[in-house]
Amino acid sequence: MSKTITITIDGHPIETRSGEKILWVALENDIYIPHLCAIKEEGRPNSSCRLCFVEIEGLSNPVTACSKGAEDGLVVKTRTERVDRLVKTAFELILSDHNLKCRECPANRNCVLQKIAKERGLKLRRQRFAPLNRTFEIDESPAEFAFDRSRCVLCGQCVWADRVEAKVGAIGFTNRGINRVVSTFNDLSLAESICTECTLCVDVCPVGALYYKKGQES
Ligand code: FES
Repeated sequence: MSKTITITIDGHPIETRSGEKILWVALENDIYIPHLCAIKEEGRPNSSCRLCFVEIEGLSNPVTACSKGAEDGLVVKTRTERVDRLVKTAFELILSDHNLKCRECPANRNCVLQKIAKERGLKLRRQRFAPLNRTFEIDESPAEFAFDRSRCVLCGQCVWADRVEAKVGAIGFTNRGINRVVSTFNDLSLAESICTECTLCVDVCPVGALYYKKGQES
């Protein structure tokens, strides 16, 4: 059993267990660190969104809080110039491939990107990076929900829900780099795929990519 240790986050001493990931320790103690791709139950986080950077005293470079385990005496800072710069860049990269018509989005006012923008004083518009301008058809084939890939942030929450929680395996990541998408095998519509329409994926989507059709909200 891991032992109880003390770390400091933004000046607050916090008791936790050795090896607990800094991200969850912070969140459980009401210290917000932006995050999209982290899944607490996942043993080896893929740390792909790059939003959860923190600095740790004694380490020369910022680290991702979702992958760094707590050690006794760690001194963590969630807001430094370097952290803020890295988070801003990661956020802007996500926006470069995101449909920014928030007012038309089913997740408007309930979207993690809006929350991060508010918490960190970031703008919800493109600045340095040109839009990827990928176009997708919305998959409205399921009875209760739809999938709009133009709003997908590739966080992987839906893939985890589908594979690990629902144990179905209807969706996964395909392609690499800027062509990466969440898709079914052979890019079938969800209704044609092995999707059981359990809607667990909809419930974990942090943006408006997977959403309930009007009148179908759970
Ligand atoms: Fe840590 Fe995405 S939450 S990299």
